[in-house]
Amino acid sequence: MSETNPKVPKRPWVVVNMAMSADGKVASANRRVTRIGSDQDLEALYALRSTADAILCGARTVEETNATLGNGGERHRRNRRRRGLQEFPLRIVASAAGSLSSKAELWRHSFSPIIVLVTPRASASRIRRLRRLANDVVTYAGDPKSLGTALARLAARRGIRRLVVEGGGILNAALFAADCVDEIHLTLCPLLMGGRTAPSIADGPGFAELANAKHFKLVSAKPHGRELFTVYLRVGSESRKPGGPTRGRSPSGPS
Ligand SMILES: NC(=O)c1ccc[n+]([C@@H]2O[C@H](COP(=O)([O-])OP(=O)(O)OC[C@H]3O[C@@H](n4cnc5c(N)ncnc54)[C@H](OP(=O)(O)O)[C@@H]3O)[C@@H](O)[C@H]2O)c1
Repeated sequence: MSETNPKVPKRPWVVVNMAMSADGKVASANRRVTRIGSDQDLEALYALRSTADAILCGARTVEETNATLGNGGERHRRNRRRRGLQEFPLRIVASAAGSLSSKAELWRHSFSPIIVLVTPRASASRIRRLRRLANDVVTYAGDPKSLGTALARLAARRGIRRLVVEGGGILNAALFAADCVDEIHLTLCPLLMGGRTAPSIADGPGFAELANAKHFKLVSAKPHGRELFTVYLRVGSESRKPGGPTRGRSPSGPS
């Protein structure tokens, strides 16, 4: 990991933001319901984005939610300027096999660079196609250890100190497995989505032993409207510095 190898720069402070139903789902099983949080939840997401140098999203989330990964409007843009950040966050899309669609809404918005993170599973023709669309295509080996290193190198090259990850569950799972998540912002929404195959916060193979589960501590829980806005900090992240933890969280965003 970057923390132990002096040749690899430190990875950025990584915050995962998700809205989850009371039964732990983040979308419907048929993938048609892609937003389960309220307007306040969306505002909290924009406020969190306004603290980040870059946003990272999985290819399916980008396609299925028509994400553009912008700055959330003028108020948030002003906050970004006040914090000394670029007006728009850098956008990174994880697409191991390079399957990210050329028709994704993201490509229609050129307000900030787009970087696609692929692995050797992406064919040469897919990489060529993505190179025509994106500002950069970065290849890493694809295993958890090299994911942390890839993030650290990308962060050093692009000046990323705080990275906000917006799902989905497959990408999140890889980041959790790689011990790359420092903080989780989780909005608990008062509904039951059901569906055994509905996406959740971490949809990889999971951890077979309790001892291998990832441990976080609850640092904040604020009810607002019908939702509960929570923040968890990774046990062991307290001493990490780059980017640093979010200071407080309310439905109108971090202070
Ligand atoms: N409620 C919420 O807060 C929330 C937030 C986000 C998303 N969602 C929902 O979640 C669903 C999408 O989530 P999902 O889990 O199916 O997909 P996802 O994680 O968004 O995207 C999966 C894809 O990302 C790429 N990927 C994943 N891990 C990677 C890694 N370690 N390295 C490189 N690339 C990697 C792969 O692309 P390739 O196929 O190219 O290999 C993979 O197929 C949607 O229904 C969306 O609505 C909900």
